Amino acid sequence: MPSLGRSSSSTSCRRPPAAIFSASSCALKRTRQRLPDTWPIKDSRVDIHNRCFLITGAASGLGAATAGRLIDLGGKVVLCDLSDGVFDQAEALGERARAVKGDVTSGEQMAQAVEAAVTLGGEHGLAGVVHCAGVVSVAKLVDREGHPADLDAYARTIQINLVGTFNVMRLAAAAMAKNAPCSSGERGVIVNTASIAAFDGQVGQCAYSASKAGVVGMSLPAARELSRHAIRVMAIAPGVFETPMMSEIPRDAHDALVAGVPFPKRLGRAEEFALLAEQIITNPMLNGEVIRLDGGIRMQ
Ligand SMILES: NC(=O)c1ccc[n+]([C@@H]2O[C@H](COP(=O)([O-])OP(=O)(O)OC[C@H]3O[C@@H](n4cnc5c(N)ncnc54)[C@H](O)[C@@H]3O)[C@@H](O)[C@H]2O)c1
Repeated sequence: MPSLGRSSSSTSCRRPPAAIFSASSCALKRTRQRLPDTWPIKDSRVDIHNRCFLITGAASGLGAATAGRLIDLGGKVVLCDLSDGVFDQAEALGERARAVKGDVTSGEQMAQAVEAAVTLGGEHGLAGVVHCAGVVSVAKLVDREGHPADLDAYARTIQINLVGTFNVMRLAAAAMAKNAPCSSGERGVIVNTASIAAFDGQVGQCAYSASKAGVVGMSLPAARELSRHAIRVMAIAPGVFETPMMSEIPRDAHDALVAGVPFPKRLGRAEEFALLAEQIITNPMLNGEVIRLDGGIRMQ
């Protein structure tokens, strides 16, 4: 049986007593020698500075925080939302921000939002989308009085959360496919917003969970298809975040949610969502995946 200390790799290492350490440190040296020209990693980062991003749902919560983060990093943003609040939000972010009022379920209005981002992006066009627009809904299949759930309400949640995501993806991808590749070789990135309800849906969440499970389901096929255009597709599945969407939940429900988070024992902050969006945009190896951002909570 060959001795660990006398392997062919250890002979070139010249540290015979610490055989295992020597073998691994030699392996480390060889690894270092094989590192590609793009090392250190900062060279392969996708730029945010001076690049334009479309943020939907940007009047509030996760979208507003992401828009602010991208502006802080030197980017440009087109904030899109159904709410008039998007104008104040854009004004507060300064001259590198624009607002477009629009409904994510409308092809025409989203085409205008994408066009505004392409124009603001100048020579670089639209660099990416962070799609946060969405609604939450709660309805039992059969309520206490025995009435069946409202079909229109179900369809509306699917229309906004799922069809709206597809609508924004298709228009943004068509625009980004026309970009010249950036230094890392990519033409753009799409970050969608799912939810942990896609995996751990609770009672009353048939519509919401199904809509978000649809967002999860589109990530891989979209990433595979858009790879030929060098466009990445990712999704974030947030746990429970402190945003206007969650502000109306009763105190005891809030406390129960917090108790279910292993660590940190609190709800997520919109800025933490923005940090992950930033990482996804800048890290070119993140593609075709859904990342839970939830402090470890698993809904019952
Ligand atoms: N807050 C959470 O705990 C949580 C958890 C999981 C997933 N999410 C998801 O994150 C996304 C953002 O949620 P948030 O917490 O920031 O909520 P939010 O209510 O603060 O913001 C959502 C924004 O989307 C906009 N919007 C709604 N329908 C729209 C439409 N048809 N067209 C354009 N804009 C529209 C609203 O006007 C609002 O400004 C949603 O998709 C939500 O489902 C949130």
